[in-house]
Amino acid sequence: MRILGIESSCDETAAAVVEDGRTVLSNVVASQIEEHRLYGGVVPEIASRRHAEAISGVVKEALEQAHTTLADTDGIAVTHAPGLIGALLVGVSFAKGLAIATGKPLVPVHHLRSHIAANYLAHPDLKPPFLCLVVSGGHSHIVRVDDYTQFAVIGRTRDDAAGECYDKAARAMGMPYPGGVALDRLAAQGNPQTYALPRPHVEGSRYDFSFSGLKTAVINRLHNAEQKGESVNKADLCASFQHTVTDLLVTNTLLAANDLGMDTIVLAGGVSANSGLRAGMTAACAQAGYRLFAPPLSLCGDNGAMVAAQGYYEWLAGHTAGADLNAVASLPITES
Ligand code: KG4
Ligand code: ZN
Repeated sequence: MRILGIESSCDETAAAVVEDGRTVLSNVVASQIEEHRLYGGVVPEIASRRHAEAISGVVKEALEQAHTTLADTDGIAVTHAPGLIGALLVGVSFAKGLAIATGKPLVPVHHLRSHIAANYLAHPDLKPPFLCLVVSGGHSHIVRVDDYTQFAVIGRTRDDAAGECYDKAARAMGMPYPGGVALDRLAAQGNPQTYALPRPHVEGSRYDFSFSGLKTAVINRLHNAEQKGESVNKADLCASFQHTVTDLLVTNTLLAANDLGMDTIVLAGGVSANSGLRAGMTAACAQAGYRLFAPPLSLCGDNGAMVAAQGYYEWLAGHTAGADLNAVASLPITES
């Protein structure tokens, strides 16, 4: 089963061809980040326009690189939720057009489900059930993956997503959007014990996160130093910040894994590229005896291959759509 996957939920126009949900035949990503960087964040209207300009060429290239044609694909999977509505609509409309023109099945894919599926592409022996920490620019969830299309949300952020928190802290330190990667790099040169940052306790849940206080603490630390004419060692602040975020993510995930009796932990989403999180989770899982899987860095961010991979499993479960498929800005991972 050869699936064409299309992704346009945020600032990457992407398409890929994947065989049986596991083997990547092509994976083409056109990023708009350079343009959005001028504005310090993603401008939805610009994102939609750039997707509309790029999508046809990106899909064509994905088919060419896979040495295949639309006629030889067996289905068209597309991210339909959640994301920027205007951006999603470009991918959904394009995929609908292809499905109508070719008569192939149209498979709607939830963006977070596809981030999880990125792991199936790199780890042939990974199968549900497992516990997944999904950390991206818009979401931070601890998800119990019961089956390829069955999920339960165990914990979530009460405010900012982990990636959002990274980007806002990085911005406060003068790094260009999206600052997560730059902050990660600078953190490697700093001492994580230099600055004590808050680890907010979340009322009423053992697994939920709260990141906005941490972001505010970084901003306050910078402002206080500025007012007093003191200098802040940015590498040390980055290292302290990364250490604290990692600690929160690792602690809650392992707590949930222990409580639920899971033996396998999986990372997913853009922030799963973070070196502190990967190292911290690797050490904690080794110590506590959990199997750990993470996507390769090339599949952590938004891409079409993960959409095609999840699309395969959605198709197997009979989750196809008709020409009335719509984009949805906000949709729980448990719904599709
Ligand atoms: O999953 P993703 O590509 O898009 C969304 O679905 O949101 O995640 C993007 C987020 C951004 O906030 C970006 O700064 C963050 O992932 N990110 C990182 C790193 N690489 C990407 N955050 C921390 N460290 C990284 N190395
Ligand atoms: Zn994403």
